Amino acid sequence: MKYTFPKNFFWGAATSATQSEGREANDQKGENIWDYSSVKYNYRFYQGVTTEQTSTFYKEYKEDVQRMADLSFNSFRTSISWSRLIPDGVGEVNQEAVRFYRNMLEELNQKGIQPFINLYHFDMPMKLQEKGGFENREVIEAFKKYAETCFELFDDLVAYWFTFNEPMIPAEAGYLHDRHYPYVVDFKRAATVMHHIILAHCEAVKSYRAAYQGKIGIIMDIIPVYPRSQNPADLKAAEMADLFYTRSLNEAILKGAYPAELRPILEQYDQMPEVTSEDLALIKETTIDLLGVNYYKPRRVKAKEYLVDVNGIFSPEWFFDDYIMPGRRMNTSRGIEIYPEAMYDIAKKIQNDYGNIDWFISENGIGIQNEEAFIEEGMVQDDYRIDFVKEHLQWLHKAMAEGSNCLGYHMWTFVDCWSWINAYKNRYGFYRMDLETGEKTVKKSGLWFKTVIENKGFD
Ligand code: BG6
Repeated sequence: MKYTFPKNFFWGAATSATQSEGREANDQKGENIWDYSSVKYNYRFYQGVTTEQTSTFYKEYKEDVQRMADLSFNSFRTSISWSRLIPDGVGEVNQEAVRFYRNMLEELNQKGIQPFINLYHFDMPMKLQEKGGFENREVIEAFKKYAETCFELFDDLVAYWFTFNEPMIPAEAGYLHDRHYPYVVDFKRAATVMHHIILAHCEAVKSYRAAYQGKIGIIMDIIPVYPRSQNPADLKAAEMADLFYTRSLNEAILKGAYPAELRPILEQYDQMPEVTSEDLALIKETTIDLLGVNYYKPRRVKAKEYLVDVNGIFSPEWFFDDYIMPGRRMNTSRGIEIYPEAMYDIAKKIQNDYGNIDWFISENGIGIQNEEAFIEEGMVQDDYRIDFVKEHLQWLHKAMAEGSNCLGYHMWTFVDCWSWINAYKNRYGFYRMDLETGEKTVKKSGLWFKTVIENKGFD
């Protein structure tokens, strides 16, 4: 075989609680920001689909775990819903939730599927959002307690824990770019949220290390930034995009300190959040065991076309413009570029800049609109998804042959699921979900992925 992968490589898929569990009468789940905003700001969601109509993992976890086993997965990531486990975020534990998560985790373990459990996937309990969410320092303590509750309740069934999925997103989408609730547009508040999320991550890791022996990590983007040209102005633009959107978070998590260049810029524009010396000491002492990397698209940038209004709202976009590269290959459903070579660049970056830490691809995938158009004889013939995964794996394979410590590949996602804003517009799953009947049917890519797992590679 041309592309072989190690014997213990993690093969599987990822989802998140809010996107896949669905809600049942009497499940005693508390409201989170998505339950709230998908109703209150319904017009912001594709076809107005709310979290009431997400997939049915809560009810059908047994059948779903069997579906994973049918594809020979050896691992699977989902998250615990904070507001399901602790409805108001800080008080009583919901025993229905404990039963569900324990049963689901037992089911995975029995089927030989290693659960990768994430604590936070964009889903702040509404009661805590009312207190300011991660903008409020008190919520760091609430998160720490929630994390400790999860470790106590489920650690006997979980060997791989993750604190956050894409921690930059709640800050960037919720407080700067008006995509996620609370739809604030204010850089300093976004920076405060991100700093507090980093501290919450550190606190959870610290609690875990004090009492448990498994692995703990985090899931982030390491989006490579590609400048339009080697012109110094384009290079500077790329440097700034990288500083704000990648290094700010990644160096805090992976190198134990924010990049030194950040503070003078934030101070110059009066955007520096409150950061204490105790905060910096905690960041410095926190390390992780395993890094998950989500990759969908590259970031291409160029020098600014026009001067910015420095009296306007501060933004990292003051320093660069996005670059629409002529001839780029597009996923037109999602409106994003497809660039598999970035898998290699990401792996190299981890190898060269971040100590070649153990890592895995925790999400990669292609969301396609109107996928029913590809159904033939009852099955979605998604050859485009097979090609997409193949190409990405080929570049990953090359980096691994050159010494990258990549331990696995998880697809986004297992069964088509609801997504933030886009709801069910773009389908990503190895299984198709029929929204009318709730029926789940395997796609051609799912069967292909099974052969890759069983053969430990492909030609
Ligand atoms: C990832 C998120 O970044 O993108 C997932 O971690 C999300 O939660 C996925 O569903 C796809 O997003 P979208 O917006 O294309 O549906």
